[in-house]
Amino acid sequence: MDRRTTQILPPDSAGIAAAATILREGGLVALPTETVYGLAADARNDRAVAAIFAAKDRPRFNPLIVHLAEIRDARALARFTPGAEAMAAAFWPGPLTLVLPLRAGHGLSPLVTAGLDTVALRLPAHPLARQLLQAFGGPLAAPSANPSGRISPTSAAHVMAGLTGRIDAVLDGGPCAVGVESTILDCSGDHPALLRAGGTTAEGIAALLGNAPARDPGKAQAPRAPGQLSSHYAPHAPVRLNVSDPAPDELWIGFGPGCDGAALTLSASGDLTEAAANLFRILHEADAHARPIAFAPVPQHGLGQAINDRLIRAAHPRPAT
Ligand code: TXA
Ligand code: MG
Repeated sequence: MDRRTTQILPPDSAGIAAAATILREGGLVALPTETVYGLAADARNDRAVAAIFAAKDRPRFNPLIVHLAEIRDARALARFTPGAEAMAAAFWPGPLTLVLPLRAGHGLSPLVTAGLDTVALRLPAHPLARQLLQAFGGPLAAPSANPSGRISPTSAAHVMAGLTGRIDAVLDGGPCAVGVESTILDCSGDHPALLRAGGTTAEGIAALLGNAPARDPGKAQAPRAPGQLSSHYAPHAPVRLNVSDPAPDELWIGFGPGCDGAALTLSASGDLTEAAANLFRILHEADAHARPIAFAPVPQHGLGQAINDRLIRAAHPRPAT
């Protein structure tokens, strides 16, 4: 991995122009999206995409999401079923990623799709992400801007803490409003399958489909090695879940009323949208305390599904690093 000087770019037209220039030259720029910060590179440039994997220490079999400015850009890269068209019409731009069959002559680096014949596409809603995509004028491959396996970034400071010296710039757009990654829906087969719970709720998708999408989380995490990445979003300290009476040494993280003794709180009122927006910031903060972490229960509906998915991975036993 080559050493780079990491600049912080301001959220204005000069910052966007500088970011677009770096991307055109094959560099790496972390950009704000409404979900989490992404680590972007030109999705058509093999060297640039390879540099994403190097900067994150990401396993090469794990494919990347391609970010686009307009739905016509998505239709040029992949084939849309009527179901996929309906999803895009309802939820784009926004926190939904669609996995679709790739068209011939797509021009993407094969590293982006890890050799699969499908591609994950998303139109982010964040105004800075959209402006940068327009200024750059092409597809941007972007995983979350954190070292592989660690906590996702929801601020420019989180990105700097994990990747300074490994990337060229961060476009500083302040905190991310949604706070958990996009929902991934596989629309490449006959029936849509939910590969990852995220910022678009399963209930919202089911309301549009007329029934709940089948769940197939193994496929999103590691299409060629199911289960390999079950430890993820990992703070350094151990994490316990569904804890109502924490041990004295534990840093207790509350949710909702009745968590008066909590050191940190996802949402004091029990609001899942607020909890999702706070989740990764609180995991980053908890990580800095170097104490075992205990989370109060979070209900498993709406954005609670995405929150619990991240918490289960954060709590998963992992090899010593
Ligand atoms: O909100 C988000 O989705 C953020 C922001 C930056 O857009 N991005 C993000 O990317 O979370 P990443 O790389 O952390 O997660 C991408 C997920 C991985 O689990 C990967 O396996 C899956 O998408 N994926 C990508 N292409 C796929 C494909 N063709 N088939 C199945 N899963 C795929
Ligand atoms: Mg990630």
